[in-house]
Amino acid sequence: MKRFINIAIDGPAGAGKSTIAKAVAKELGILYLDTGAMYRALALKAIREGIDPNNSENVIPLLERTEIFARNMDGVQHTYLDGEDVSGLIRTNEISKGASDISAIPAVRIKLAQYQRDIAHASDVVMDGREIGSYVIPECDNKFYVTATVDERARRRLKELHERGQDLGKTVEEMAVEIAQRDHNDSTREFAPLVRLPEAILVDTTDLTVDEAVAAVLGRIHREEV
Ligand code: DC
Repeated sequence: MKRFINIAIDGPAGAGKSTIAKAVAKELGILYLDTGAMYRALALKAIREGIDPNNSENVIPLLERTEIFARNMDGVQHTYLDGEDVSGLIRTNEISKGASDISAIPAVRIKLAQYQRDIAHASDVVMDGREIGSYVIPECDNKFYVTATVDERARRRLKELHERGQDLGKTVEEMAVEIAQRDHNDSTREFAPLVRLPEAILVDTTDLTVDEAVAAVLGRIHREEV
């Protein structure tokens, strides 16, 4: 059986995972999968239907009647919720919080992780998320943990939201508190939390440019599989 190259890029919110993962995938000419977008799509559905993303009793039946999939078009991921392309609707602060909450429900993660695993078993792929290396594809031998200080991540998130025309009127300090809360949520949930695995290569992007961070990852990939 052909062994595909699978690259897992895990880490907390706003560390630069998706920027790095996209660039690495482009450089290697392989697929990039943004797994967080799927949690975001489900959170969007819950919010639209007035369901609290924390309420597993209501989220589980919702999950059963939801189809989420991702398609890559010209290097850009489009995320579909029940056939609707929701890529442009899932980058708000409200959805970030909802996705973090909904991802704490084990049934949610089991379903979405299976979909992600099937992709990894069928193609060369760079995936970014929280538990790709620990839970989705633990057998993968290219694992990275990308992080940065909370303040730096808060600055980047505000900049990103600002660029999307979503000015929240928040200070860096306020955003840092929210980000730290999400870190706490993502790393203390019982089922498949965000962890820094001992075998994952640490890339601290606080003082790195994007190019430097991408080079740090590319330089450590087991290329014999490519
Ligand atoms: O990477 P992101 O900010 O788009 O992810 C949104 C939320 O989804 C994040 O707070 C935790 C959850 N998530 C997850 O649990 N597992 C993943 N592989 C990706 C995201």
